This record gives sequence, structure tokens and C-alpha cells, in this order.
Amino acid sequence: MSGKRILLGVCGSIAAYKSATLVRLLLKEGADVQVVMTEDATTLITPLTLSTLSKRPVLKDFATPDGQWNNHVSLAEWADLLLIAPVSANTLAKMANGFCDNLLTTTYLSAKCPVAVAPAMDLDMWHHHSTQRNIEQAKQDGVTVIHTTGRQYISCDSRPHHRAHRSCQVYQQSFLW
Ligand SMILES: Cc1cc2nc3c(=O)[nH]c(=O)nc-3n(C[C@H](O)[C@H](O)[C@H](O)COP(=O)(O)O)c2cc1C
Repeated sequence: MSGKRILLGVCGSIAAYKSATLVRLLLKEGADVQVVMTEDATTLITPLTLSTLSKRPVLKDFATPDGQWNNHVSLAEWADLLLIAPVSANTLAKMANGFCDNLLTTTYLSAKCPVAVAPAMDLDMWHHHSTQRNIEQAKQDGVTVIHTTGRQYISCDSRPHHRAHRSCQVYQQSFLW
């Protein structure tokens, strides 16, 4: 993991808070982590938290306020691995269908490095035909899907009903690339 450049995509899943631990674990092993968030992810965990932990400015928009372009092609070229954890049902659907309306999905379309996603959503969303179709499509497109082992609680819902990985599960999987 030492010296590996990980582009960490964070989406608007309630499991977004786990990305803070994931950044810490990856950095501890010597990886260089650049975080790219979706707009909705920023309502669930602040960019300030992730930029502080990753020691890099968090990217979200195509352009910075002072008119610089966050070049998605360069970002994709920089990465040894694009790891989207958590991936929301929405972003997964965009990936499966080639939508590229934000920096993260546009970077995904440009990526030639390995891509892995860790889906996190409640079981109803997960089992929906469209999500399952999108998962299959993403796999066919070469994306590795990191599945949870066991049922993890990530919401205030008391039922064991909400899929998300422990940060360390995703972290361990990221050693495979
Ligand atoms: C509090 C809250 C929790 C959410 N949790 C999830 C979730 O765990 N998984 C998911 O796929 N969507 C979840 N959503 C819905 C997504 O945020 C929504 O679909 C959003 O459009 C995702 O955008 P993004 O894919 O650009 O990040 C949640 C929304 C809110 C407000």
C-alpha cells in the first residue's frame, strides 16, 4: 500500500461517515489519498474533515472558486485505484449508464486504473431490480464490487436492514490492487 495513490470517491450514503476512518487507515499504510466527494456526500460528512485527515484539499466541483479546472482526466491518470466507498444507489446507476454530471462520475468515465465500489444503502434499495441490474452492469464493465460480510447497522433504523461495510473491510480489500 505504501506509495499507492488512491482516489477515494465518497457519495451521499449515510455510511459516508465511515470514509473518515478509511482515509486514516489508508494513510497509516503509506497510501496517498485524494478524496472526491459528491454534492450530497457533503451534507453527510464535511469536506473539512476529509481534507484534514487526507492532508489534501477535497475535490467536488469541476472548477475551483478562483477559476481553476479540476481536471478529471489528470485525476484519473494519477490514481492507482479508484475506490468509491460508499457508493450510493444513485452514483451506481450513473456509473452503470455512463452519466457523468459531476466530478466523480466524470473521473470514473476517464479511469483506466482498477475501480472498486462499496455499496451502502438499505436493503430495499439494494434488492431493487434496478440496483441489481446496475451492479451487474458495473461488474461487466470491470468494476469490482466489495460486498459486505454480515449485516452492518449504519442508520438509526434498529432493524438489521442497512448494508454498509466496516471501514476495515474496505481497507483490507483495497490491498488487492
Ligand atoms: C440522511 C440520508 C441518508 C441517505 N442514505 C443513503 C444510503 O445509505 N444509500 C444511498 O444509496 N442513498 C442514501 N441517501 C440518498 C442519497 O443521498 C441520494 O440518492 C443522493 O441523490 C445521492 O447522491 P450522490 O450519488 O450524488 O452522492 C440518503 C439520503 C439522506 C438525506
